[in-house]
Amino acid sequence: MADLETSYLGLSLKSPLVVSSCPLTYELDNLRRMEAAGAGAVVLYSLFEEQVELAEMGFSGYYQQHRDELPEALRHIAAMKEYNQGAGSYLAYLYQAKHAVSIPVIASLNGYYSSGWTRYARLIEAAGADALELNIYYLATKPHISGAEVEQMYVDLVREVTQSVRIPVAVKLSPYFSAMSNMARRLVGAGAHGLVLFNRFYQPDFDIVNRAVVPSLDLSASSELRIRLRWVALLAGQIDADLAITGGVHTAEDVVKSLMAGANVAMMASALIKNGIDHLAKVSADLNTWLDSYAYASAAEVRGLLSHAQIGDSAALERANYLNVLRTARGNQEA
Ligand SMILES: Cc1cc2nc3c(=O)[nH]c(=O)nc-3n(C[C@H](O)[C@H](O)[C@H](O)COP(=O)(O)O)c2cc1C
Repeated sequence: MADLETSYLGLSLKSPLVVSSCPLTYELDNLRRMEAAGAGAVVLYSLFEEQVELAEMGFSGYYQQHRDELPEALRHIAAMKEYNQGAGSYLAYLYQAKHAVSIPVIASLNGYYSSGWTRYARLIEAAGADALELNIYYLATKPHISGAEVEQMYVDLVREVTQSVRIPVAVKLSPYFSAMSNMARRLVGAGAHGLVLFNRFYQPDFDIVNRAVVPSLDLSASSELRIRLRWVALLAGQIDADLAITGGVHTAEDVVKSLMAGANVAMMASALIKNGIDHLAKVSADLNTWLDSYAYASAAEVRGLLSHAQIGDSAALERANYLNVLRTARGNQEA
């Protein structure tokens, strides 16, 4: 059996398989099952900034009945009650989670501006979280806000949070930056110990009969892994931070690819929602079989084998290979 141990955010993990922030982490019993099925760590569902804001404003427990009195931007959170009950209960749950399992428990804060974040980051630390993942979710819809301003906002937020806690902080990013490598470096400069690539944006759909914008959250497929592999492969060795892949990890092969790109951990949400928590045990067993069959003694041995720093072939990861891909596609059509 191969040694699956890895390190992430300064924590020692028995496996690179990590449960990504999702509703499955809402039950203590599920966390125990995840540990038993081989998870190296779990990232809890997020505490949303809107809930932090409401708690700060003294709205906690009040907003369900007085939804219409809330500012427009905060009304949607009434509908989130099933998923997450509020800031106070998040902290209580985190405390219980830490006592329920012995694998690291990473808390998650989700939002885009900093008022209230540093206080909650400290409370999350006090409640026992081993690390904190910041999911910065900002859709730049205002025409007067520039890309540079958005980037600065991310950097400031990360700096404020990292300076206010001692636990390691990872930043979960979207792929939509003009200069990803530069952004990654700035976030690490602001104190991020790890980057989680990439967030999957919730994409509303259109109901063309009822003329309505409808919520839609599809589970991922393995094909979504590619953009993550490419960026982790490009960043590994270039920045002084740990890397996690989230998005499209479904099988042991996906985990091997993530490791070969240079990720410290591969996170899963959709695969577990679709196949159940025990899918972790299958992926873990398959990973062992794969490593054994190629005579790798450990997961650490494959880590970074296909990173840019190792292969030194930037064309394969960058634009130059695009032409070859197009030529191949044309060749296939002509055949
Ligand atoms: C139903 C559902 C709920 C999610 N909730 C959160 C959340 O609260 N916080 C967060 O950072 N990510 C959340 N995510 C995103 C996942 O953590 C993950 O990054 C994303 O689904 C991509 O990974 P996957 O391909 O394994 O699903 C959620 C995903 C799903 C499917």
